[in-house]
Amino acid sequence: MHTVTLTPPARGNPGTDIQIGSGALAYVSKLVKGHDRVVILFDESIEEIALRLVIGDSLRIPVKSGDASKSLAEVDRIVSVMLQNGCTRKTLLICVGGGMMTDLGGFVASVFMRGISCVLVPTTLLGMVDAAIGGKTAVNVGSKKNMIGTITHPQSVLIDTDLLTSLPDSQLSEGLSEIIKIAAIVDHPFFEWLEDVMPQILKRHPIVLEECVLRAVTAKVNIVQADEHDRDERLLLNFGHTVGHAVEALSAYKLSHGNCVSIGVVAEMKLANFKDATRVEKLLAAAGLPLEIPKTMKPDDLWTVMLSDKKNEKGVVKIAVPKRLGEGSVQILSKETFLTLFS
Ligand SMILES: NC(=O)c1ccc[n+]([C@@H]2O[C@H](COP(=O)([O-])OP(=O)(O)OC[C@H]3O[C@@H](n4cnc5c(N)ncnc54)[C@H](O)[C@@H]3O)[C@@H](O)[C@H]2O)c1
Repeated sequence: MHTVTLTPPARGNPGTDIQIGSGALAYVSKLVKGHDRVVILFDESIEEIALRLVIGDSLRIPVKSGDASKSLAEVDRIVSVMLQNGCTRKTLLICVGGGMMTDLGGFVASVFMRGISCVLVPTTLLGMVDAAIGGKTAVNVGSKKNMIGTITHPQSVLIDTDLLTSLPDSQLSEGLSEIIKIAAIVDHPFFEWLEDVMPQILKRHPIVLEECVLRAVTAKVNIVQADEHDRDERLLLNFGHTVGHAVEALSAYKLSHGNCVSIGVVAEMKLANFKDATRVEKLLAAAGLPLEIPKTMKPDDLWTVMLSDKKNEKGVVKIAVPKRLGEGSVQILSKETFLTLFS
């Protein structure tokens, strides 16, 4: 088992204890002391995993799978169930599931009676290396993704890599998209290691998967500790996301986030004339990810969506791209440059 501690720079923030490895679920017994009630909020499709958390007398609240559950209506329902069952400010909320569940549950914990303790148990690769790390919580508003949320760090994150055995291949690729992205932009040795071990990752070799998750989590923790609020270093995590989010939105969210990030990484590397682009493309393709913007999407429509991204300021579109492998920079993107992608 590996322990990584995330100490956010914000004053008064106690930090997050992250346990990574086979069997990390068992660590939950150490976390429940001092709480009057324990609530286990879980994605109903993976109830079997939630049942493995052995805690006497807990309140279990299932949530329907899928991003539609990331809504204020669902927050209202969960809070109501918690109140009906006598939860207080001393209640501990444990969220079990992928990024949908950790975003939604993390948000509930951050606002229930102005904030209660929260433990995240991510069960997808994307949840383990991305959504559960860094304190961002969110719900969607209509078709607008992640419009309401907080930056509130959980007390602990339990990452049990054994849970990845049941994950469908497409979901493994979703997580690999973010892993390849972060390695390419901030961690050159990690990127080279991924090039060597990708076949073993795809075969879900347990030791290799554990090391992969540990390295990806450590890379994200280092960025979040330097910049909690997307002002500087954290923008590097946006590599692939400026174009990727636009592709995702124009597909009406029919294309998955990880697939769109992969497409966005390839497009943004081209826009920045990144010299090692072929190596990154090869790794994304090996992980089963797509590389091209769908031909049906119009450049002007993509640009309009990119302009409206919530991370933009004063109508300026920015992309985060590697200058060389493992070293990123943030650049301003003009419409003229963007359109060269399609010429
Ligand atoms: N907070 C952040 O920083 C952050 C970062 C990235 C993504 N996100 C959010 O994360 C969400 C996407 O996360 P996701 O890809 O994990 O999706 P998800 O949570 O919807 O899970 C995807 C599917 O996998 C299933 N599943 C979960 N664990 C499983 C397991 N161990 N075995 C088999 N099936 C399993 C779920 O039931 C679901 O059907 C989005 O809402 C996105 O906005 C948040």
